[in-house]
Amino acid sequence: MLPGQLSVFLRCSLDPYNQIWALRSPLEKQPVVPLATGTGNWQLPPDVKAIVAMTRKRVIGDRNRIPWRLQGEQRWFKEVTMGHPVLMGRKTYESIGKPLPGRRNLVVTRSGEIAGVDLIRDLPAFDPAPFELPGKEIFVIGGAEIYLALLGRCDAIYGTIVKEDYPGDTYFPEFEPQFEISETIRQTPEFDIYCYKRRKR
Ligand SMILES: NC(=O)c1ccc[n+]([C@@H]2O[C@H](COP(=O)([O-])OP(=O)(O)OC[C@H]3O[C@@H](n4cnc5c(N)ncnc54)[C@H](OP(=O)(O)O)[C@@H]3O)[C@@H](O)[C@H]2O)c1
Repeated sequence: MLPGQLSVFLRCSLDPYNQIWALRSPLEKQPVVPLATGTGNWQLPPDVKAIVAMTRKRVIGDRNRIPWRLQGEQRWFKEVTMGHPVLMGRKTYESIGKPLPGRRNLVVTRSGEIAGVDLIRDLPAFDPAPFELPGKEIFVIGGAEIYLALLGRCDAIYGTIVKEDYPGDTYFPEFEPQFEISETIRQTPEFDIYCYKRRKR
């Protein structure tokens, strides 16, 4: 499988993306939410979910690959994401090597050209609405740069916690202050799967 910025966002006239927000939702009073992590002073409502597998130290990758292969874990990722659009960084896409079947693949890159996927160039202004399908919201599937940029817009994280302490060079951002376990989905000897929801403030 593949599978927490740190400021409170204030909508203000200086926000370069305010116009996009206004176009998207002119009448709705959207909640102002604290960003869990990420970069920039942009904000849109939380409307995507993240899915990740990490060690207890939040290692997610090593030399552009996932350091473990655990029986049943890839299947879980497939089950959850199948039919949903999936959003990933260019490096994660390259580590997978091809579009994930049965899912619309959205790949974030500043300049790369990749056939067979939808390219997202402007991540801060990313609007998931055109890509969503009925009942099928977008999953952010990594890697670290993309999690960091978008975790503030995630209302939930499907997190697989790998019990063995694998070394690595890529980490999921700190998310614990902003998220709490809402459900224990599965427990196995090698990993546990939790659904984390944003803490209420
Ligand atoms: N355990 C898990 O659940 C899991 C899940 C996914 C990935 N991973 C691991 O995570 C590692 C990859 O993560 P990573 O952080 O190195 O890379 P990444 O997040 O997958 O991709 C980074 C790339 O995304 C593009 N990008 C980032 N921010 C952007 C922005 N604001 N606008 C436009 N493009 C932007 C850039 O592509 P360009 O350079 O092309 O411009 C950048 O080089 C691998 O080891 C992978 O195996 C683990």
